[in-house]
Amino acid sequence: MADEKHPPHLVKALRERAEKGSLRKLTRDFPPVDFCSNDYLGFSTQGSISDYVAKGKSSSFRSGSGGSRLISGNTVFTEETEAYIATFHHAEAALLYNSGYDANVGLLSCVPQKGDLILYDELIHASLYDGIRLSHATSYKFKHNSITDLAALLNRHQSGFRSIYVVVESIYSMDGDEAPLKAITTLLNEQENSFLIVDEAHAIGVFGKEGRGLCEQLAIEPMCFARIYTYGKAMGVHGAAIAGSRLLKDYLINFSRSFIYTTALPLHSVENIMAAYQLLLVQSETQRQQLLSNIAYFKQATIDIPGFITSNSSIQCLVLGSNGAVDDMEQKLAKNGIYAKAIKSPTVKEGSERIRFCLHAFNTQSELDLLIKWIHG
Ligand SMILES: Cc1ncc(COP(=O)(O)O)c(C=O)c1O
Repeated sequence: MADEKHPPHLVKALRERAEKGSLRKLTRDFPPVDFCSNDYLGFSTQGSISDYVAKGKSSSFRSGSGGSRLISGNTVFTEETEAYIATFHHAEAALLYNSGYDANVGLLSCVPQKGDLILYDELIHASLYDGIRLSHATSYKFKHNSITDLAALLNRHQSGFRSIYVVVESIYSMDGDEAPLKAITTLLNEQENSFLIVDEAHAIGVFGKEGRGLCEQLAIEPMCFARIYTYGKAMGVHGAAIAGSRLLKDYLINFSRSFIYTTALPLHSVENIMAAYQLLLVQSETQRQQLLSNIAYFKQATIDIPGFITSNSSIQCLVLGSNGAVDDMEQKLAKNGIYAKAIKSPTVKEGSERIRFCLHAFNTQSELDLLIKWIHG
């Protein structure tokens, strides 16, 4: 369609993006060596999940679920899976969503209300932020991982709001560093009306006993009001769950619009999620150890390169500071068979553009050495 048939701002916005070198484009010809996907344990590619599903409960295959959970999309197996997820994550209840995006938007848009306050880390994921924008609560961001800033905000606003929600990620998606969760829970202990929400998207499968996440590893699960587990990353499948109290689950079933007004996950997706949990129990320890050893190796080999954000997770980021510089690095790596992603503004703040390396259990020593060589070169 010709440009003049479109609302003019569409054309203008795309042109501006192109001028800034930040136009997003879909790609499909990925270089072969994967330092990009969130498939940290290799669950999505190794076929083991489909083996589990094949042995699983699906006797009558149905492509779709046929309706929303509240209409015709609920099954006994979905409820059994939610009960399993709750037990696994030491919560009273869990509720499945179609994606982490849906879970975060659905939670934040309906739980905090007018008269409440949301304090959120400035680097939270867009899905949490979008949920906050849809809520009618007052919201303020605090400096990334700054307990001092969070404490100051709490102090300033401790009276005048009914409930205060603090929203963080256990592992930050674009920096790879972890939230100071212990310190946050200590701080919130003193604040009667506070509620902690932790997005564990990049921690499930990687941290904690049998991959239960960073909240489990730090023994702060009971201090969290809600934890979000997404299944499209280390779990290798798709979907998400919110773990919390039975009352929270009942509330979400009644008021969370991204849960209510959407077709439920099909049964085979739910089976994939259950299968991924089984794999975590029986098979992930070796992968996790390999992943942790790959992370340690990579960090040691890049210790002298300025610009790396300190991180102990699978996500290691080298800040290069402009869209042009990260594009150049992405292309140089791609020419040498390596897929790592340039993360540009506006996804990250201007000046903090970076190349994001996602390390996996399945990355071999020679792949790591190849990557390290080209980062240095
Ligand atoms: C921290 C965080 N939360 C939530 C999401 C969204 O999860 P999903 O991909 O399942 O929608 C992502 C994924 O990009 C993420 O990084």
